Amino acid sequence: MGTPECITHEHEVLIIGAGGAGLRAAIEAASTGANVGVVCKSLLGKAHTVMAEGGIAASMGNVDDRDNWRVHFSDTMRGGQYLNNWRMAQLHAQQAADRVREIESWGALFDRTREGKILQRNFGGHKYPRLAHVGDRTGLEMIRTLQDHGIHQGIKFYMEYTVLELLMDGGKIAGAVGYDREKGRFHVWKAPAIVMATGGIGRAYKITSNSWEYTGDGHALAYRSGAELKDMEFVQFHPTGMVWPPSVRGILVTEGVRGEGGVLRNSEGRRFMFDDIPDLYKDQTATDPEEGWRYVTGDKEAQRPPELLTRDHVARCIVREIKEGRGSPHGGVYLDIAWIKEKMPKAEAHIQKKLPSMYHQFKQLAGVDITKDAMEVGPTTHYAMGGINVDGETQMSTVPGLFACGECAAGLHGANRLGGNSLSDLVVFGKLAGEHAVEWARANPSSTVDEGQVQDACRGALEPLERTTGESPYEIQSTLQEMMQEKVGIVRTESEMAEAVEAISSLKAKASNSSVPGNIEYNPGWHTAVDLPNLMVVSEAVARCGMDRKESRGAHFREDYPAKEESHAHHNTIVTLGSDGEMRVERRVIPDMPEELTSIIKEMG
Ligand code: FUM
Repeated sequence: MGTPECITHEHEVLIIGAGGAGLRAAIEAASTGANVGVVCKSLLGKAHTVMAEGGIAASMGNVDDRDNWRVHFSDTMRGGQYLNNWRMAQLHAQQAADRVREIESWGALFDRTREGKILQRNFGGHKYPRLAHVGDRTGLEMIRTLQDHGIHQGIKFYMEYTVLELLMDGGKIAGAVGYDREKGRFHVWKAPAIVMATGGIGRAYKITSNSWEYTGDGHALAYRSGAELKDMEFVQFHPTGMVWPPSVRGILVTEGVRGEGGVLRNSEGRRFMFDDIPDLYKDQTATDPEEGWRYVTGDKEAQRPPELLTRDHVARCIVREIKEGRGSPHGGVYLDIAWIKEKMPKAEAHIQKKLPSMYHQFKQLAGVDITKDAMEVGPTTHYAMGGINVDGETQMSTVPGLFACGECAAGLHGANRLGGNSLSDLVVFGKLAGEHAVEWARANPSSTVDEGQVQDACRGALEPLERTTGESPYEIQSTLQEMMQEKVGIVRTESEMAEAVEAISSLKAKASNSSVPGNIEYNPGWHTAVDLPNLMVVSEAVARCGMDRKESRGAHFREDYPAKEESHAHHNTIVTLGSDGEMRVERRVIPDMPEELTSIIKEMG
């Protein structure tokens, strides 16, 4: 094989990923006059951010003036079962409202209250109506706004590029190497600071709301360059994805449906969510349907309906109903918003106004009119709480010069994320990452790219095209997805996760010998082969961390350890790449919270 040629670019800050977090980081960095590049795997604007449909969480208090950052902080910590990075939870709760007002000033058109304020809706685990929203298209409106704003900031965008490896100078960042997906040409980006904003890992599973891009690239690139990953056992299964027809299985059905009064029923017509209310939320949950409805309509004395318990719990209750034979014909349960006609005049128009995407999605994809009939829904892999371990203040990872924000960074959400806290996460920590990346780049302007590392990465990437024998990357990917769904899904056991680790080891061997016909010009088989090592890293990390956490907490539920254990209550799980090339898992004690924050949690009960 000859020496692959590379096209070289130079930036002070390189952002990898162009969803909400990447765009917000890029805008912040560019606002200082820095030379900023953004590399994205897909087209600009096509990001999982759009799958946060129901709203952005911020304690603006527009609908209930009892809300403030302290309640939001406490809700986020409770939802995360106290494994959260408390400093991030504090910054997030304090800054989210300003970030919402900022995107409004950049052109985002939120729904309004009668008085003309930004309207906020109920969502699971949030004590008060807190989600600023644009119907059920909030993420889409945010991406549109950030894109429109960012495009005028002098940022250079590289669309449809895949990053293969981060380049190191000694222990610190020097740049990245990758290729453009259209022509297959190799590129080197020299940059002293990189912000990773690549989103999640959903494509490690068969049923997911994530589109094809989400193969854990940022997690794996950071891990291979020496960064720590944290809390990878916590994968969020959103309770409501479409289940029928098979071609749309996993597509998100926003929690906004339940926020607007949608209820879950089993095949017997019973609202099964009343059957099991966890102790942690007994003080906040309605015990009868009338009270739940009063809450939805704004009665401040009422408690929220059990459909708005946290996602981990709702997803498990749905799985229980299905397993015990009370599911819907296609393996889900029923989500019914049409029932509000009993309570509300003009309910059909209300549903179409508040949930326009859901109305069209079900009408067009499933032939169901949600203003008349119930939807069939079931859990879908939606979000990784685990990710790159970052400093709460600066968003820098344990690798100097490498920053991370958004879904690929860990910390804010602990063991389980509250709906709506992802959109606020993106803009709060995107801004901070952009700001600190520029500071770092200015203080550490020179770094040298190692040509040997560049050539190794390019040659390694070309290998699948040069082999004439070997398994198809599509087959390897689909075997992995089925296996992860079955063995490291919503309900886990030690033996199944051990089987998963073994299966991953043999799939890794197959992936490193996969073979792809064709050449480097737009070749989706080759792109899939390049994604496989990343999928293997994140899958192994989820399984190994899951085995290490011998308890059930948040999104991690173990049938063999169904209770929370005090011995696991105070540590995060850390993953690193050992010098022998093997994955290491260790436990790290969470630093004590300052008195100022513990007193908030005590005060909120
Ligand atoms: O259900 C939803 O609209 C998703 C929101 C989120 O994941 O934050």
